Amino acid sequence: MKTTRLLLTLHNLSSPSKTAYLYQVNSIQSRCFLHTSMPLMDKNTTCVEEHPHTRAVVQAINQHQQPSDYMLNHEIYTEKELHDVQITHKKFESWHDRVAYAAVRTLRLVFDVFTGYMHVSTPSERNSTKAIQHTHKMMTEQQWLRRFIFLESIAGVPGMVGGMSRHMKSLRTMRRDYGWIHTLLSEAENERMHLLTFLELRQPGWLFRGFVLLGQGAFFNAFFLTYLISPRVCHRFVGFLEEEAVITYTRCIEDIDAGRLLAWSNLPAPQIAKTYWRLPENSTMRDVLLAVRADEANHREVNHTLADVGPNAPNPFVVQTKRQTDRSTAERH
Ligand SMILES: [Fe+2]
Ligand SMILES: [Fe+2]
Repeated sequence: MKTTRLLLTLHNLSSPSKTAYLYQVNSIQSRCFLHTSMPLMDKNTTCVEEHPHTRAVVQAINQHQQPSDYMLNHEIYTEKELHDVQITHKKFESWHDRVAYAAVRTLRLVFDVFTGYMHVSTPSERNSTKAIQHTHKMMTEQQWLRRFIFLESIAGVPGMVGGMSRHMKSLRTMRRDYGWIHTLLSEAENERMHLLTFLELRQPGWLFRGFVLLGQGAFFNAFFLTYLISPRVCHRFVGFLEEEAVITYTRCIEDIDAGRLLAWSNLPAPQIAKTYWRLPENSTMRDVLLAVRADEANHREVNHTLADVGPNAPNPFVVQTKRQTDRSTAERH
Protein backbone atom coordinates (compact mmCIF):
# COMPACT_ATOMS: atom_id res chain seq x y z
CA MET A 1 0.00 0.00 0.00
CA LYS A 2 2.75 2.41 1.01
CA THR A 3 4.87 1.34 -1.96
CA THR A 4 1.97 1.94 -4.37
CA ARG A 5 1.38 5.40 -2.98
CA LEU A 6 5.07 6.21 -3.30
CA LEU A 7 5.17 5.00 -6.90
CA LEU A 8 2.11 7.06 -7.85
CA THR A 9 3.62 10.16 -6.32
CA LEU A 10 6.88 9.44 -8.07
CA HIS A 11 5.30 9.30 -11.52
CA ASN A 12 3.82 12.77 -11.03
CA LEU A 13 7.20 14.34 -10.37
CA SER A 14 9.50 15.91 -12.89
CA SER A 15 12.89 14.31 -13.55
CA PRO A 16 15.19 16.31 -11.23
CA SER A 17 12.66 16.05 -8.38
CA LYS A 18 12.49 12.30 -8.87
CA THR A 19 16.19 12.01 -8.13
CA ALA A 20 15.84 14.06 -4.99
CA TYR A 21 12.75 12.13 -4.00
CA LEU A 22 14.40 8.75 -4.48
CA TYR A 23 17.37 9.99 -2.54
CA GLN A 24 15.07 10.75 0.38
CA VAL A 25 13.09 7.51 0.06
CA ASN A 26 16.22 5.39 0.09
CA SER A 27 17.68 7.32 2.96
CA ILE A 28 14.51 6.55 4.92
CA GLN A 29 14.44 2.99 3.64
CA SER A 30 17.96 2.23 4.78
CA ARG A 31 16.89 3.13 8.28
CA CYS A 32 13.59 1.33 7.99
CA PHE A 33 15.46 -1.86 7.16
CA LEU A 34 17.05 -1.59 10.55
CA HIS A 35 13.92 -0.53 12.37
CA THR A 36 11.29 -2.81 10.91
CA SER A 37 12.99 -5.40 8.69
CA MET A 38 10.45 -4.27 6.07
CA PRO A 39 11.61 -1.86 3.35
CA LEU A 40 9.21 0.93 2.42
CA MET A 41 10.32 0.57 -1.18
CA ASP A 42 12.32 -2.18 -2.84
CA LYS A 43 15.57 -1.12 -4.48
CA ASN A 44 14.73 -3.14 -7.59
CA THR A 45 11.22 -1.83 -8.24
CA THR A 46 10.30 -1.20 -11.88
CA CYS A 47 10.19 2.49 -11.11
CA VAL A 48 13.92 2.53 -10.41
CA GLU A 49 14.56 0.24 -13.41
CA GLU A 50 12.79 2.73 -15.68
CA HIS A 51 15.16 5.51 -14.68
CA PRO A 52 18.77 4.27 -14.81
CA HIS A 53 20.13 7.69 -13.85
CA THR A 54 18.19 7.59 -10.58
CA ARG A 55 19.26 3.99 -10.01
CA ALA A 56 22.90 5.08 -10.25
CA VAL A 57 22.27 7.76 -7.63
CA VAL A 58 20.51 5.30 -5.34
CA GLN A 59 23.33 2.75 -5.65
CA ALA A 60 25.90 5.42 -4.85
CA ILE A 61 23.95 6.42 -1.75
CA ASN A 62 23.54 2.84 -0.60
CA GLN A 63 27.27 2.21 -0.96
CA HIS A 64 28.06 5.13 1.33
CA GLN A 65 25.31 4.45 3.82
CA GLN A 66 26.56 2.73 6.94
CA PRO A 67 24.24 0.05 8.33
CA SER A 68 24.85 1.55 11.77
CA ASP A 69 23.73 5.06 10.79
CA TYR A 70 21.02 6.13 13.20
CA MET A 71 19.48 9.53 13.43
CA LEU A 72 19.35 9.38 17.24
CA ASN A 73 22.22 8.51 19.56
CA HIS A 74 22.06 5.52 21.83
CA GLU A 75 24.41 3.77 24.19
CA ILE A 76 26.68 0.90 23.09
CA TYR A 77 27.83 -1.03 26.17
CA THR A 78 31.07 -2.70 27.10
CA GLU A 79 30.98 -6.22 28.56
CA LYS A 80 31.64 -4.77 32.03
CA GLU A 81 28.82 -2.22 31.74
CA LEU A 82 26.39 -4.96 30.71
CA HIS A 83 27.20 -7.08 33.76
CA ASP A 84 27.54 -4.23 36.27
CA VAL A 85 23.83 -3.34 36.17
CA GLN A 86 22.31 -3.48 39.65
CA ILE A 87 18.76 -3.43 40.97
CA THR A 88 18.41 -0.13 42.83
CA HIS A 89 15.66 1.89 44.46
CA LYS A 90 15.65 5.64 44.94
CA LYS A 91 14.69 6.74 48.43
CA PHE A 92 11.65 8.99 48.77
CA GLU A 93 12.47 12.64 49.32
CA SER A 94 9.06 14.25 49.02
CA TRP A 95 5.38 13.41 48.73
CA HIS A 96 5.76 13.74 44.93
CA ASP A 97 8.03 10.70 45.02
CA ARG A 98 5.49 8.72 47.04
CA VAL A 99 2.70 9.61 44.61
CA ALA A 100 4.87 8.61 41.63
CA TYR A 101 5.86 5.32 43.27
CA ALA A 102 2.27 4.49 44.24
CA ALA A 103 1.23 5.06 40.61
CA VAL A 104 3.99 2.75 39.38
CA ARG A 105 3.09 -0.01 41.85
CA THR A 106 -0.59 0.21 40.90
CA LEU A 107 0.24 0.09 37.21
CA ARG A 108 2.54 -2.84 37.80
CA LEU A 109 -0.14 -4.77 39.66
CA VAL A 110 -2.61 -4.34 36.80
CA PHE A 111 0.09 -5.20 34.29
CA ASP A 112 1.16 -8.32 36.21
CA VAL A 113 -2.41 -9.62 36.22
CA PHE A 114 -2.85 -8.83 32.53
CA THR A 115 0.34 -10.61 31.42
CA GLY A 116 0.05 -13.49 33.90
CA TYR A 117 3.35 -12.49 35.49
CA MET A 118 4.68 -14.46 38.42
CA HIS A 119 8.04 -14.90 40.01
CA VAL A 120 9.70 -16.66 42.89
CA SER A 121 10.37 -14.28 45.70
CA THR A 122 13.18 -15.70 47.84
CA PRO A 123 16.71 -16.69 46.77
CA SER A 124 16.25 -20.23 48.17
CA GLU A 125 13.06 -20.64 46.13
CA ARG A 126 14.81 -19.29 43.06
CA ASN A 127 17.47 -21.99 43.36
CA SER A 128 14.92 -24.77 43.56
CA THR A 129 13.33 -25.66 40.25
CA LYS A 130 11.19 -28.21 42.13
CA ALA A 131 9.74 -25.50 44.39
CA ILE A 132 9.09 -23.29 41.39
CA GLN A 133 7.28 -26.02 39.48
CA HIS A 134 5.31 -26.95 42.57
CA THR A 135 4.04 -23.40 43.08
CA HIS A 136 3.68 -22.85 39.31
CA LYS A 137 5.68 -19.65 39.70
CA MET A 138 7.51 -20.12 36.43
CA MET A 139 7.23 -17.95 33.35
CA THR A 140 7.54 -19.60 29.94
CA GLU A 141 9.34 -17.98 27.01
CA GLN A 142 5.97 -17.03 25.47
CA GLN A 143 4.79 -15.39 28.69
CA TRP A 144 8.00 -13.41 28.99
CA LEU A 145 7.66 -12.25 25.38
CA ARG A 146 4.04 -11.23 25.88
CA ARG A 147 5.07 -9.21 28.90
CA PHE A 148 8.05 -7.57 27.16
CA ILE A 149 6.04 -6.61 24.10
CA PHE A 150 3.28 -4.96 26.13
CA LEU A 151 5.80 -3.31 28.47
CA GLU A 152 7.84 -1.85 25.62
CA SER A 153 4.79 -0.63 23.71
CA ILE A 154 3.98 1.50 26.78
CA ALA A 155 7.58 2.36 27.68
CA GLY A 156 8.07 4.22 24.40
CA VAL A 157 5.40 6.78 25.33
CA PRO A 158 6.99 8.95 28.11
CA GLY A 159 10.12 9.98 26.17
CA MET A 160 8.06 11.03 23.16
CA VAL A 161 5.51 12.93 25.29
CA GLY A 162 8.27 14.62 27.30
CA GLY A 163 10.24 15.56 24.16
CA MET A 164 7.10 16.78 22.40
CA SER A 165 5.94 18.82 25.39
CA ARG A 166 9.30 20.52 25.78
CA HIS A 167 9.52 21.14 22.03
CA MET A 168 6.10 22.83 22.10
CA LYS A 169 7.05 24.83 25.17
CA SER A 170 10.21 26.02 23.48
CA LEU A 171 8.15 27.15 20.45
CA ARG A 172 5.45 28.99 22.38
CA THR A 173 7.70 30.60 24.98
CA MET A 174 10.40 31.31 22.35
CA ARG A 175 13.08 30.05 24.70
CA ARG A 176 15.80 27.45 24.41
CA ASP A 177 15.25 23.95 25.76
CA TYR A 178 18.84 23.41 27.01
CA GLY A 179 19.29 19.92 25.68
CA TRP A 180 16.41 17.88 27.06
CA ILE A 181 14.52 17.16 23.83
CA HIS A 182 17.11 14.95 22.17
CA THR A 183 17.70 12.88 25.31
CA LEU A 184 13.96 12.25 25.68
CA LEU A 185 13.41 11.46 22.01
CA SER A 186 16.35 9.08 21.94
CA GLU A 187 14.85 7.31 24.97
CA ALA A 188 11.55 6.88 23.09
CA GLU A 189 13.42 5.56 20.05
CA ASN A 190 15.41 3.19 22.25
CA GLU A 191 12.22 1.74 23.78
CA ARG A 192 10.74 1.31 20.32
CA MET A 193 13.84 -0.66 19.31
CA HIS A 194 13.27 -2.95 22.30
CA LEU A 195 9.74 -3.54 21.03
CA LEU A 196 10.84 -4.22 17.45
CA THR A 197 13.47 -6.65 18.69
CA PHE A 198 10.92 -8.72 20.62
CA LEU A 199 8.48 -8.59 17.70
CA GLU A 200 11.05 -10.58 15.71
CA LEU A 201 10.24 -13.49 18.04
CA ARG A 202 6.47 -13.18 18.36
CA GLN A 203 3.71 -11.49 16.38
CA PRO A 204 0.79 -10.58 18.68
CA GLY A 205 -2.80 -11.36 17.72
CA TRP A 206 -5.65 -8.88 17.25
CA LEU A 207 -6.83 -9.12 20.90
CA PHE A 208 -3.39 -8.26 22.23
CA ARG A 209 -3.12 -5.39 19.73
CA GLY A 210 -6.49 -4.13 20.95
CA PHE A 211 -5.19 -3.98 24.51
CA VAL A 212 -2.06 -2.18 23.32
CA LEU A 213 -4.27 0.36 21.54
CA LEU A 214 -6.37 0.93 24.67
CA GLY A 215 -3.29 1.04 26.89
CA GLN A 216 -1.57 3.57 24.66
CA GLY A 217 -4.67 5.77 24.42
CA ALA A 218 -5.12 5.88 28.17
CA PHE A 219 -1.45 6.16 29.11
CA PHE A 220 -0.51 8.75 26.47
CA ASN A 221 -3.26 11.15 27.53
CA ALA A 222 -2.77 10.64 31.25
CA PHE A 223 1.00 11.11 30.97
CA PHE A 224 0.66 14.14 28.69
CA LEU A 225 -1.75 15.93 31.03
CA THR A 226 0.39 15.11 34.06
CA TYR A 227 3.51 16.33 32.23
CA LEU A 228 1.86 19.70 31.63
CA ILE A 229 1.15 20.00 35.36
CA SER A 230 4.32 18.48 36.83
CA PRO A 231 7.24 17.28 34.67
CA ARG A 232 9.13 16.48 37.86
CA VAL A 233 6.54 13.92 39.01
CA CYS A 234 6.51 12.40 35.51
CA HIS A 235 10.27 11.90 35.38
CA ARG A 236 10.23 10.44 38.89
CA PHE A 237 7.43 8.11 37.78
CA VAL A 238 9.51 6.96 34.79
CA GLY A 239 12.54 6.52 37.07
CA PHE A 240 10.54 4.16 39.30
CA LEU A 241 9.04 2.42 36.26
CA GLU A 242 12.55 1.75 34.95
CA GLU A 243 13.55 0.34 38.35
CA GLU A 244 10.79 -2.23 37.85
CA ALA A 245 11.95 -2.90 34.28
CA VAL A 246 15.49 -3.64 35.52
CA ILE A 247 14.02 -6.08 38.08
CA THR A 248 11.93 -7.82 35.40
CA TYR A 249 14.82 -8.26 32.93
CA THR A 250 17.17 -9.38 35.73
CA ARG A 251 14.70 -12.11 36.70
CA CYS A 252 14.39 -13.25 33.11
CA ILE A 253 18.20 -13.44 32.75
CA GLU A 254 18.30 -15.44 36.02
CA ASP A 255 15.72 -17.82 34.57
CA ILE A 256 17.89 -18.40 31.50
CA ASP A 257 20.98 -18.97 33.66
CA ALA A 258 19.07 -21.43 35.85
CA GLY A 259 18.00 -23.43 32.78
CA ARG A 260 14.32 -22.60 33.18
CA LEU A 261 14.01 -21.13 29.67
CA LEU A 262 15.56 -23.88 27.57
CA ALA A 263 14.32 -22.50 24.23
CA TRP A 264 16.29 -19.29 24.90
CA SER A 265 19.47 -20.81 26.29
CA ASN A 266 21.15 -20.82 22.86
CA LEU A 267 18.66 -18.87 20.77
CA PRO A 268 20.55 -16.62 18.31
CA ALA A 269 19.94 -12.90 18.76
CA PRO A 270 17.66 -11.31 16.14
CA GLN A 271 19.61 -9.46 13.44
CA ILE A 272 17.90 -6.17 14.27
CA ALA A 273 19.33 -6.40 17.83
CA LYS A 274 22.82 -7.30 16.63
CA THR A 275 22.83 -4.29 14.33
CA TYR A 276 21.37 -1.86 16.85
CA TRP A 277 23.61 -2.74 19.83
CA ARG A 278 26.52 -3.81 17.59
CA LEU A 279 26.59 -7.24 19.19
CA PRO A 280 28.94 -9.99 17.96
CA GLU A 281 27.60 -12.25 15.21
CA ASN A 282 27.27 -15.24 17.57
CA SER A 283 25.23 -13.34 20.19
CA THR A 284 22.29 -15.01 21.87
CA MET A 285 18.98 -13.97 23.39
CA ARG A 286 20.74 -13.58 26.75
CA ASP A 287 23.08 -10.96 25.26
CA VAL A 288 20.06 -9.08 23.92
CA LEU A 289 18.40 -9.10 27.34
CA LEU A 290 21.61 -7.83 28.95
CA ALA A 291 21.66 -4.91 26.50
CA VAL A 292 17.97 -4.15 27.04
CA ARG A 293 18.46 -4.24 30.81
CA ALA A 294 21.42 -1.86 30.54
CA ASP A 295 19.22 0.52 28.54
CA GLU A 296 16.54 0.38 31.22
CA ALA A 297 19.12 1.09 33.93
CA ASN A 298 20.27 4.04 31.85
CA HIS A 299 16.70 5.38 31.58
CA ARG A 300 16.33 4.90 35.33
CA GLU A 301 19.35 7.10 36.10
CA VAL A 302 18.44 9.70 33.47
CA ASN A 303 14.83 10.13 34.64
CA HIS A 304 15.63 10.20 38.36
CA THR A 305 18.30 12.82 37.65
CA LEU A 306 15.96 14.91 35.48
CA ALA A 307 13.41 14.79 38.31
CA ASP A 308 16.12 15.88 40.76
CA VAL A 309 17.38 18.85 38.75
CA GLY A 310 13.90 20.05 37.72
CA PRO A 311 12.52 21.13 34.35
CA ASN A 312 14.27 24.52 34.22
CA ALA A 313 17.83 23.23 34.62
CA PRO A 314 20.06 22.41 31.63
CA ASN A 315 20.14 18.71 30.69
CA PRO A 316 23.09 17.14 32.59
CA PHE A 317 23.26 14.32 30.02
CA VAL A 318 24.29 16.44 27.05
CA VAL A 319 27.89 15.38 27.75
CA GLN A 320 26.84 11.72 27.72
CA THR A 321 25.11 12.18 24.37
CA LYS A 322 28.31 13.72 23.04
CA ARG A 323 30.27 10.69 24.35
CA GLN A 324 27.89 8.37 22.45
CA THR A 325 28.40 10.38 19.26
CA ASP A 326 32.18 10.33 19.66
CA ARG A 327 32.14 6.58 20.28
CA SER A 328 29.96 5.97 17.21
CA THR A 329 32.21 8.14 15.06
CA ALA A 330 35.36 6.41 16.34
CA GLU A 331 33.91 2.98 15.57
CA ARG A 332 32.95 4.03 12.06
CA HIS A 333 36.45 5.24 11.07
FE1 LIG B 1 12.51 -0.96 27.23
FE1 LIG C 1 13.16 1.97 29.63
